[in-house]
Amino acid sequence: MCGIACYIGKKKALPVVISSLKSLEYRGYDSAGVAYVIEDKIKLIKTSGKIINLEKKLDLKKNTYLCIAHTRWATHGKANFKNAHPHTIGKITLVHNGIIENYKEIKNTLIKKGYTFLSDTDSEVAAAYIDYNYKQTNDILETLEKIKYELKGSFAFGIICSDEKDKIYALRKESPLIVGKSNDGFFIASDVPAILNYTNKYYLLDNYEIAVIEKDYVTFYNDHKVIEKNSNTFNGDNNNVNKNGYEHFMLKEINEEPEVISKTIKELKNIKSLDKYNKIDIIACGSAYHAGLVGKYLFEKYADIKVDVHIASEYRYSPIFKEKNNLAIFISQSGETADTLAALKLAKEKRIDTLSIVNVKESSIARESDEIIYTYAGIEIAVATTKAYLAQITTLSLLALKTSYEKNYISKKEYEEYLNDFNKISEEVKLLINSSYEEIAEIIYKKEDIFFIGRSIDYYLSMEGSLKLKEISYIHSEAYAAGELKHGTISLIKKNTPVISVITNKELKDKTISNNKEVISRGAFVIAITNSIIPDDSYNIKINIPDINDFVNPILTIIPMQMIGYIVAKKRNCDIDKPKNLAKSVTVE
Ligand code: F6R
Repeated sequence: MCGIACYIGKKKALPVVISSLKSLEYRGYDSAGVAYVIEDKIKLIKTSGKIINLEKKLDLKKNTYLCIAHTRWATHGKANFKNAHPHTIGKITLVHNGIIENYKEIKNTLIKKGYTFLSDTDSEVAAAYIDYNYKQTNDILETLEKIKYELKGSFAFGIICSDEKDKIYALRKESPLIVGKSNDGFFIASDVPAILNYTNKYYLLDNYEIAVIEKDYVTFYNDHKVIEKNSNTFNGDNNNVNKNGYEHFMLKEINEEPEVISKTIKELKNIKSLDKYNKIDIIACGSAYHAGLVGKYLFEKYADIKVDVHIASEYRYSPIFKEKNNLAIFISQSGETADTLAALKLAKEKRIDTLSIVNVKESSIARESDEIIYTYAGIEIAVATTKAYLAQITTLSLLALKTSYEKNYISKKEYEEYLNDFNKISEEVKLLINSSYEEIAEIIYKKEDIFFIGRSIDYYLSMEGSLKLKEISYIHSEAYAAGELKHGTISLIKKNTPVISVITNKELKDKTISNNKEVISRGAFVIAITNSIIPDDSYNIKINIPDINDFVNPILTIIPMQMIGYIVAKKRNCDIDKPKNLAKSVTVE
């Protein structure tokens, strides 16, 4: 995680890097800092906490035209001032994203050689190691060529050497890094949104590649040779990085969901069927994992394909059995999640066919996978995903539908009717977004515990609803398979404990209704989200959602839960777009 934003060019550098850094704040916000060159000296300014604290400390008018900047998500060492980047040791000042796994051994060796360290970070050790090697070679490029194979783990660096204060060096392995190019200068950034206020042209740095950036040009190297790279153009809309009048990115992104659905249907109408596979494994983390579960429900029910869904951090350390006609699907908004990426590499080693469903174009997961389906959510800024999750479940629904049709489980007529329903739901989604959830939020927001229950697809959706609420409101929340609650957890239900019960699965509706009654008897306050008629004594408040068909119902069902999470967090005055301890792109394991 962490965000890197660097600039060298004709513009004053500090306003540029601060604006870039702000669009990377989703990657972490534990501390921030800059190092810039002024009057031939390198000046370092850092703060703990968010970028706004750093901005307050800076004089943005300073005549500096070269700056490296960083926003941190703590991995090694507490989230405090002394661990903030940039780090300077000897002649090297750097910002780092990633984890140097062998930093302890290197640190011990360097201490014996006389180095002292001010922070607890692996990044400062990397700076010292570069400095130590630079002393031997007197050539920064040679040094980077050497150390890039010696540092274990992942890294993206922006580096200034005090002997060459007119250049920024960039190097990456596993952690993402791009080089942006505008008419008046160059950028280094962890992600494309960071440069969009200035340019849409960028180069993707591959593993082990080095960029040497001067005011007017950039040169790329790998293995001591100059390499040619083609630039990319980002064709999306820069509005994506602005709130457009909404109070929070999360609310803006929820309101973009109807458009995301329309776009997904338009772009993926000719999606390829997966009928040649007998077994599918879906691998992902967090909300993307929850999306995978929705895929499982639809593929198993409508395409008769067995699907196992795995948490990527578990899958990568479990025995992997290659089965005949087996497909592994990897789902990721960012395309950079370290565990998902590692799991993908593992599946490829086992020669399992891989398909990734990814939102960010050209991201590491997209580049690594045999096949890619991009989701059409656009840039998502709020740390808690909403529209990207929705794009993932819409994509999986379309895939399952197509596969069902190709396997002749549904007729052409049915297939077309189902597809048509996708086109109709945008309006329903708008209505659900604009419904009032105030009364429910009022009941929940002062509570410390809440439960979500459901069965089958409703359980899978509850898991996402529960995650949404807890991650942004800090209310402890658990999702339970409704039938499992009485095997222990029901002992936590007391007077007025809120239970959100999702009931859309017709076959299991009566079972969940009974579970509602069980918790009501023990004092729970039940909020039912349902598309069915359910008895009055099985809920306290009911949210009605439309019942269209199994392929689109999950899309409709999740909206009230996203809205409840948002409004509850707002009532608790939480930092909705940047919940504590989190970051959007989890590039460490
Ligand atoms: C929760 C959330 C996370 C992500 C997870 C995977 O709101 O956003 O749980 O879903 O970290 O991230 P990606 O999809 O980027 O691989």
